[in-house]
Amino acid sequence: MPIPPSRNESAAGSLRERFQNRKGTSSRVFLAPGRVNLIGEHTDYNDGFVMPVAIDSYTWIAAAKRSDGVLSVCSEHFGESVQLPLTALAGPPRKHWSDYVRGVAAVLQSAGHKLMGADILIYSNVPLGAGLSSSASLEVASALALMAEASAHLSPLELAKLCQRAEHEYAGTRCGIMDQFVAVFGRARCALMLDCRSLEYQVLTLPAAVRIVICNSMVKHEHAAGEYNLRRADCENGVKVLQRLIPNVRALRDVSRADLEQHRGELAERVYRRCRHVVGENQRVLAAAEALRTQDLAALGNLMYQSHTSMRDDYEISCSQLDFLVDLAAGAEGVYGARMTGGGFGGCTVNLVRSDAVEDFQSRIGAGYRRKTGRNSEIYVCAAAQGAREWQSDGEP
Ligand code: GLA
Repeated sequence: MPIPPSRNESAAGSLRERFQNRKGTSSRVFLAPGRVNLIGEHTDYNDGFVMPVAIDSYTWIAAAKRSDGVLSVCSEHFGESVQLPLTALAGPPRKHWSDYVRGVAAVLQSAGHKLMGADILIYSNVPLGAGLSSSASLEVASALALMAEASAHLSPLELAKLCQRAEHEYAGTRCGIMDQFVAVFGRARCALMLDCRSLEYQVLTLPAAVRIVICNSMVKHEHAAGEYNLRRADCENGVKVLQRLIPNVRALRDVSRADLEQHRGELAERVYRRCRHVVGENQRVLAAAEALRTQDLAALGNLMYQSHTSMRDDYEISCSQLDFLVDLAAGAEGVYGARMTGGGFGGCTVNLVRSDAVEDFQSRIGAGYRRKTGRNSEIYVCAAAQGAREWQSDGEP
């Protein structure tokens, strides 16, 4: 759960102490944030637009060199250690938390970086499997730690791309670039508007009068990676058909709503609806960026609700608990907009709430959700945070 910076700082300090106690040696500490996406869902792998925010919940890694060619990796969350020989990293996804570290190490090696081995201790306060990119934050923090131990240099963009590749090849999700990108490039108090084709981005300051509040449905979808890859395949099928009919279509990014409607009859019904979500969502992200620039929070909030409806009905990645959280938010005082965020099939909603209404919002949503579902929703009020870095004990984390 997101925690205030002061407590993040003590989390890092005590991680270093715990590392010292386990391994009898000092360590360097690296951190990478989770993220929440304000708008632009499942658009990244369609060369489209996204608007993520890095949040003040992090994966922290304490690491020290070893020279025996082994990564000895311990997760405090899972209370488990694994030994990964650097000569035997290859292989399909093992459906294990260590796939992310294994993948990053393997991809770094295959890019020509010489790793020697490392002791690694992982602590995270990014909720796992909640659509807040705990996996990208683990990948990026691992990559920073491994690069430091190997004295390797990579540009921030190469780092993000390499982590995305690790997720494709070693975790089996054909994700876009959004999560790894914002884990690296996130800015305090800002959202990024990223063009996933050119990888150029704009930094958009978040208005001080609102807070980003995340409500966790506490629903985890067992088959999220499979469903995710199916959505991506539907989009690719749509592109295959449309590029025969419309000139210069490389991705759904290049398709307008009018083009899509004109060729609707050529697409299978489900593929048409998937495409309609992506085409509409790209337009909504552009409109949302304009709304943020002009501080039109009502317009931004409406776009968020529209995005949710499109994910629920056309992309079919929501679930009843997420829909209920959005409905609850829509009826609460001081809420501009709400939608599910992340890959879907469970996880969280993101809510834009007037600062002075946040406390009421939390109690109202908490009580309403409990009454209806019998579950407690964890609710996080986040700050937009800076991207991944080495933790300096004398500075802000
Ligand atoms: C996951 C993926 C991202 C993105 C989102 C949906 O978080 O890792 O690349 O596709 O889902 O927007």
